[in-house]
Amino acid sequence: MKDIIITVLDKYSDELEYARSIGFDQHLKLDNYKEIYDDLSWHVVAIIDNSIISTIRITPFPNSPIHDWTNNKIRLPLDKNVVNVTKGFTIPEYRNTGIFKIIFSTVLDFSKKRGFDFAIGGYIPSVESRKFTNRLGFEEIDQLLEVGVPPYTKDELIPIICDLKKNEQKYKAEYLKAKLQTETNGLSVTKKNCE
Ligand SMILES: CC(C)(COP(=O)(O)OP(=O)(O)OC[C@H]1O[C@@H](n2cnc3c(N)ncnc32)[C@H](O)[C@@H]1OP(=O)(O)O)[C@@H](O)C(=O)NCCC(=O)NCCS
Repeated sequence: MKDIIITVLDKYSDELEYARSIGFDQHLKLDNYKEIYDDLSWHVVAIIDNSIISTIRITPFPNSPIHDWTNNKIRLPLDKNVVNVTKGFTIPEYRNTGIFKIIFSTVLDFSKKRGFDFAIGGYIPSVESRKFTNRLGFEEIDQLLEVGVPPYTKDELIPIICDLKKNEQKYKAEYLKAKLQTETNGLSVTKKNCE
């Protein structure tokens, strides 16, 4: 079994920059992946042998990449009880092991524990993560936006929202299922400082 630590970073790092450069591999290559939101966010990360293999960024109000990327043309709430969840990926070597589900459910649990009521985000139709985000409790907002979500410059975004209290059982159940899946794939998950 390989040990994976799930933890939360409160600032951007060289390790995150490196992970992004290989995690967004099929998409546009950038010279620099850091964004203005990165030092204003939490980053839930999965670490193996000191390397980040999967992550999602949590950006609290008043910052909202989703609203900025869509020029505020989005019908999602922007309020002090809302977090944005963006910039998610798993590096290719560890895909399809269940680790992204671990990260995403931890993101929702952490946000609720920090007192937030809603998580908003968007899924990209070409990535087809819809079934999975629905299982976590996300609902789609009836709007498809053509936007440039870095680094997916020519893509579309379907806005989604999760009521963190209403769906707590859903994302906790998804976490437990994903934990079994990661174990089947030889990965042993431990959470540290995610409360
Ligand atoms: C999409 C991605 C994050 C999935 O990461 P992962 O660690 O392999 O995901 P998991 O093994 O935890 O599976 C999570 C769910 O994602 C979906 N999924 C996994 N791989 C996928 C793929 N290649 N394409 C589309 N959906 C995928 C599935 O619904 C899966 O759940 P299920 O197997 O129970 O149905 C990963 O393929 C990735 O990093 N891709 C490039 C970056 C990217 O597209 N990020 C945007 C995410 S909106």
